[in-house]
Amino acid sequence: MKTFYLTTAIDYANGSPHLGHAYEKVLADVIARSKRLLGSPVRFVTGLDEHGQKVQQGAEAEGIDPIQRCDRVAEEFESMLRLLDISNDDYIRTTQERHKKVVAHLLQELHDRGEIYEAEYQGYYSTRAEQFLQEKDKVNGEWPEIFGEVTQITERNYFFRLSKYRDWLVSHLEENPGFIEPAHRQNQVLEFLKEPLNDLCISRPKDRLNWGIPLPFDTDYVTYVWFDALVNYVSAAGFGDPGFEQLWPADLHVIGKDILAPPHAVYWPIMLKASNLPLPARILAHGWWTSSGAKMSKSTGETVDPLSLAERYGSDPFRYFVMREMKVGNDAEFSLERFESRYRADLGNDLGNLVSRLLHMSATYEEGVTPEVGLNEGPEKKIGLLWESTKEEALKFFLEYQFSQGLERVFSFIRGINKYADERTPWKLAKSEAPEDRQALRTCLGTMIEALRLANALLAPVMPSVHASINDRLGLEPCCSWKEDLSWDHRLSGKKLGEKTILFPRDV
Ligand code: ME8
Ligand code: MG
Repeated sequence: MKTFYLTTAIDYANGSPHLGHAYEKVLADVIARSKRLLGSPVRFVTGLDEHGQKVQQGAEAEGIDPIQRCDRVAEEFESMLRLLDISNDDYIRTTQERHKKVVAHLLQELHDRGEIYEAEYQGYYSTRAEQFLQEKDKVNGEWPEIFGEVTQITERNYFFRLSKYRDWLVSHLEENPGFIEPAHRQNQVLEFLKEPLNDLCISRPKDRLNWGIPLPFDTDYVTYVWFDALVNYVSAAGFGDPGFEQLWPADLHVIGKDILAPPHAVYWPIMLKASNLPLPARILAHGWWTSSGAKMSKSTGETVDPLSLAERYGSDPFRYFVMREMKVGNDAEFSLERFESRYRADLGNDLGNLVSRLLHMSATYEEGVTPEVGLNEGPEKKIGLLWESTKEEALKFFLEYQFSQGLERVFSFIRGINKYADERTPWKLAKSEAPEDRQALRTCLGTMIEALRLANALLAPVMPSVHASINDRLGLEPCCSWKEDLSWDHRLSGKKLGEKTILFPRDV
């Protein structure tokens, strides 16, 4: 079986991690964990994008080497990954030798074959911002004050022949409708491709930017942004090494919508095509977390830092919140109130109370042993059927990366278990000595335990620690196969349960 090779965007090393970065890594992690539960070998890679002007300028302002700054930022991002329990197999940094040598190799090959050429570039240049500007940067026909003096300059640079691949890319998109998800994004890319495509400038002269990978065929230049960053996906797969074909082509690139078109949906497929490498199977473009409607970034200045919620409440409530709250592909508005409400209602009331009252009743009425189930009547039959439809629908959503909708099904099943208990009223049955009431009580507890075991198996990719701790109370190891652990088979009958526990304390 081919290893499922899954990547995220590599984050810019010019700032600190924020909710957008955290969300994307959690989303990819939930996908990686789901694939593993489905029995697929997975290679899950994330990393850091370290070159470029802003990193160079930031380091200069601090009076340190760019690499020192990158090392510090890498530590910050990697500690975010640990905080959020991200199960990545690798962390690629674009300053690593393994990456630089692949970039140099691909550039050289493309240059040798005439896919990269030198030409004069004319444009408006702002010395203050140290960047080329476009007509669209003008406000009311004038260059805004922040750019200072703007002059027309000519610069020699290297260009990659994008334009000649436009028709090929359009056909590829038309023949592969699932290449970009959600589907409406693929249509946007096709719209974008109706305009003529310019060749891509891929270099900067070293005297303007030296924090980059030198062009192997002209060391007065470094490669600029996308020709460096995008290549990470093949360097992390070990391009040039024997294992490369095991991983490449990638099965899924997870990225945000702002870097879909043109970078991932246009530059990247064309770079691969021109390099005679196969294309990734799929690109999943998620939406933005917003705050009062605006895209969140490190500079938005939230009143509460969303990442601090993972420290305060634990990583699983944070993971649950972002997966439940954002429909993959859409934007979502972050607010502390939404977070607290999900924490209290879904996690505390629906799931947490179920676990604690069930363990409490089992300990009190049945000495903590899961009873045999004797009845399969109205309520039992109903909850059993509800499980079958929940399993089918939730798995279907999970496989389509629609985790919000999938979790909605799982939690409605959890509420179904609570409702079942309210119908059977085990606390009343426990007061009766009548044999049929004793039997009904045992059936009720046995049924609830089985239903909880199953619901919990579906929570594993989203809340791995909560999942493990519930399974631990049920006397089980964490679930490692959905093929084996999703059938209603009362496998816990006669087994000893653990002590009751509070999973989601009210005062945190
Ligand atoms: O774009 N909501 O890095 P980056 C959701 N280095 N996602 C967000 C977000 C938000 N408010 N803000 C950012 C880069 N993201 C490049 C990528 S890949 C070869 C190179 C997402 O640090 C963003 O969409 O600006 C992107 O997928 C990722 O975070 C890194 O953004
Ligand atoms: Mg960005």
